[in-house]
Amino acid sequence: MKDILILGIETSCDETAASVVANGRKVLSNIISSQVDLHAEYGGVVPEIASRRHVELILPVIDNALKEAGVTLDQVDAIAVTHGPGLVGALLVGVSAAKAIAFSLGKPLVSVNHIEGHIAANYISHPDLEPGYLCLVVSGGHSHIVHVESYTEFRIMGRTRDDAAGEAFDKIARVLGLGYPGGPAIEKAAKAGNQEAFDFPRVNFSDVPYDFSFSGLKTAVINTVHQLRIKGEPLPVEDISASFQKAVTDVLVDHTVSAAREIKTDTICIAGGVAANSLLRESMTERASEMNIRVLYPSMILCTDNAAMIASAGYYSFRNGRTADWRLNAIPSLKIGESG
Ligand code: KG4
Ligand code: ZN
Repeated sequence: MKDILILGIETSCDETAASVVANGRKVLSNIISSQVDLHAEYGGVVPEIASRRHVELILPVIDNALKEAGVTLDQVDAIAVTHGPGLVGALLVGVSAAKAIAFSLGKPLVSVNHIEGHIAANYISHPDLEPGYLCLVVSGGHSHIVHVESYTEFRIMGRTRDDAAGEAFDKIARVLGLGYPGGPAIEKAAKAGNQEAFDFPRVNFSDVPYDFSFSGLKTAVINTVHQLRIKGEPLPVEDISASFQKAVTDVLVDHTVSAAREIKTDTICIAGGVAANSLLRESMTERASEMNIRVLYPSMILCTDNAAMIASAGYYSFRNGRTADWRLNAIPSLKIGESG
């Protein structure tokens, strides 16, 4: 049977990315142009700078993705693009490019929810993975526990009530002077620290047991830093990083494993930028193995934003007959399960 080739396009935040994926699983190219250096001096993503950079990079990035895959636009079966959630100006660049290509070539256009894309990254790294399973999606903007019932059906079992896990990493890194993006910087500092040095809070809710809250933890860390500075004491950056990382990981693992037990699944997937964190990967694997649950996560490059995951999710929507019309727009606050 002929391969189904999807061109994926991703511009929801600060990565301009394009990729060609065959049959939702085989990556033929995966081009990611990161703007991290552009935004680092501001300590976070500046939306207007991101949009302008996407406009400059989008066509060269798509061109590279096609060249590296050895595929022409004519050979592509459909164009899949992230239309939310994300920064509106950034999303519009990818959506406009995808619409122009699809319209001019008379090809189907497929809209993809960015978070569903993060989940689909696991299909690329694990060829045998099929729904249903439980997925913890933890990125800079989102923290969700999702029951993936089919390739295109998702049930949210838990979500953050305030900060996303990645956002908490980024904010604490800034307070500790570790720079942006914060996750990798905290992980590195934590390696030399003692995770028991500070007893930071772990928040649980009795009404919705799988929900998260990281704002109390963030305040506790900031207060600790503040007190040490007032006393003129040196900042134990490594110990604070390790204790903070442990507090975030404990809550993520506890809630995910409990939700997995409730739905009696034998597979937990982790997705999103924070899935790159090795303590999270190791702790989840250790706790889940006690219940004979396997833990899967994408390769490092597929954890953070990329277009291969968008092409993969787009393939499953396309296969399900879900295509977008020419009025497709960016939806900055798009929810899981609301794509298309
Ligand atoms: O998925 P992603 O690339 O973008 C969003 O969709 O938000 O995730 C980026 C987030 C950032 O907050 C970053 O600090 C975090 O993922 N991150 C990490 C690690 N690598 C990236 N957090 C913890 N540990 C890491 N190693
Ligand atoms: Zn993302």
